[in-house]
Amino acid sequence: MLKNVYKMASKSFNVKFNNGLECPIIGLGTWKSKPGEVTQAVKDAIDIGYRHIDCAHVYGNEKEVGAAIAAKISEGVIKREDLFITSKLWNTYHRPDLVRGALETTLRDLGLQYLDLYLIHWPQAYKEGPENFPTDENGKIQFSDVDYVDTWKALEPLVEAGLLRSIGVSNFNHRQLLRLLEVATIKPVTNQVECHPYFNQARLKAFCEERGIKITAYSPLGSPDRPWAQPGEPQLLQDPKLKAIADRLGKTVAQVVLRYQIERGNIVLPKSVTKERIASNFQIFDFKLSAEDVALLDTFDLKNGRLVPMTASLGHKYHPFENDEY
Ligand code: A2P
Repeated sequence: MLKNVYKMASKSFNVKFNNGLECPIIGLGTWKSKPGEVTQAVKDAIDIGYRHIDCAHVYGNEKEVGAAIAAKISEGVIKREDLFITSKLWNTYHRPDLVRGALETTLRDLGLQYLDLYLIHWPQAYKEGPENFPTDENGKIQFSDVDYVDTWKALEPLVEAGLLRSIGVSNFNHRQLLRLLEVATIKPVTNQVECHPYFNQARLKAFCEERGIKITAYSPLGSPDRPWAQPGEPQLLQDPKLKAIADRLGKTVAQVVLRYQIERGNIVLPKSVTKERIASNFQIFDFKLSAEDVALLDTFDLKNGRLVPMTASLGHKYHPFENDEY
């Protein structure tokens, strides 16, 4: 009996998109998950109760994610329709004639007939071709001037075709969203962006909320494994102020910062390849943060706390974080 109560209290729930479809509020992140680790991580996550997996072509591990999904379906643990699978169109495939092929590659790699959600990964396009990060002789990324608005118009028919349930964007600033909304027949359901207490996206969130666009929080734990992390940079999970809140609530800092996103109504995508962490990151439905604690966490924003600045494509006319305050 007690076990059941605990189970129920720890169950995730769904949010509703502007198109009426639902999405589990917590999903497993797979950015930086090595191909050799991600299959087991996704299997563990599904066993623990995750039903939402966040993927991308550029993460280089979609085949291995697909292997886990196939295994859990064939074991009878889940059915395809129980899962919510997201992937993202990479920057080298923005040209409208390349969009469907890129999606088909992802579907093939994941072993799926359709995606629940497909996002334009970044607004800025890179030179079309086989390299995900095409560079010139000086090692500088080569850009393409394809307009993300045209990319969006190529995505819409793929919803009609039944290959995608929902479409959205990632890393778009508010002006880019405004441009998109001007031409969109299908509204983006979400803007997936970096979001955590050091960079809480309050303005972008308010802007998106007014327009029925959900914020999906990536790097919610402050991505301690980001490849460009430097010694001495603030470490979210080590923050003593967060530790004090976590201790008071009898939770871990990770659980508190994940619950922070839930309280704000944001979808949240913690990445882990460690079974115990995958499990504990899911144990966030048996407690709440008070309005006072949420307000306190809101004050932790560092203003310049962005951890994923995408410096490699600075100078691109559609770089989202240059010349835009939010
Ligand atoms: P690992 O994958 O080795 O378990 P983010 O989701 O913000 O990108 O953060 C991912 C990073 O945080 C990874 O290094 C992951 O490690 C680590 N991580 C995930 N969950 C926890 C947790 N509960 N406690 C501490 N570190 C965690």
